[in-house]
Amino acid sequence: MTAKLIDGIALSKHIRTEVAQRAAALTERGHQPGLAVVLVGENPASQVYVRNKIKACEDNGFYSVCDRLPADLSEAALLERIDALNRDPRIHGILVQLPLPPHIDAHKIIESIAPEKDVDGFHISNAGALMTGQPLFRPCTPYGVMKMFEAYGVPTSGAHAVVIGRSNIVGKPMAMLLVNAGATVTICNSKTRDMGAITRTADIVIAATGQRDLVKADMIKPGATVIDVGMNRNDEGKLCGDVDFERVKDVAGLITPVPGGVGPMTITMLLVNTIESAERAAS
Ligand code: GUN
Repeated sequence: MTAKLIDGIALSKHIRTEVAQRAAALTERGHQPGLAVVLVGENPASQVYVRNKIKACEDNGFYSVCDRLPADLSEAALLERIDALNRDPRIHGILVQLPLPPHIDAHKIIESIAPEKDVDGFHISNAGALMTGQPLFRPCTPYGVMKMFEAYGVPTSGAHAVVIGRSNIVGKPMAMLLVNAGATVTICNSKTRDMGAITRTADIVIAATGQRDLVKADMIKPGATVIDVGMNRNDEGKLCGDVDFERVKDVAGLITPVPGGVGPMTITMLLVNTIESAERAAS
């Protein structure tokens, strides 16, 4: 192995220590930070994510509300619940876990969240603010990746970064954060022709496709930084990412493992966004 590992668990712990101190300071002033997590239905992966988010709140001194709602909940009932959370002064962040059941319009639900409580950063006004370089909330996973670059001294200004994936949750906001940081950014997707020719010119490769082993060793420039946002299961049921880690680690300069890389950072940055929101509300 030549690549150095980017340790998302250690970096998360470090950031959470500071978050817990800020939460305690706010609580002392009578403004405990509060997060509401809304889960509709019983998607097993979503249940795990939601449980971890609530536990992170409890571990770091946040007030939290977890709404577990039935899969056949009407869109109108969900909108009503969000309206109540928008008006609840104890709540500084609202997260509706995605995906939602198909009968519910996810765009409509996201737009119903008060932008100043949209700690996912998915609301159109927050996406627009990010695009114009004045973000209120940075989407948690890309924000966590930027923190990794900062912590490990990965230069972004002037770097060529290739983002594989164009989701609203990761790919697009990741590209925008990198653009704002002065990187030259290429966004690839599953239809990109000869992706390797593009990634081989990259100083930074970020894979966020949900396709196991998509990124191979011969697609990476020696010494490049490789970030794996993928969360897949291999044939033995073991968690793995989008990167062929065993081979890519011998070419890359820095690499995130799965698990233990980007995953823990997502929840940590959700806490950061919620504390920032609570601090804004208290000021
Ligand atoms: N589903 C997968 N990732 C996310 C996320 O970051 N936020 C929400 N709300 N749902 C998700």
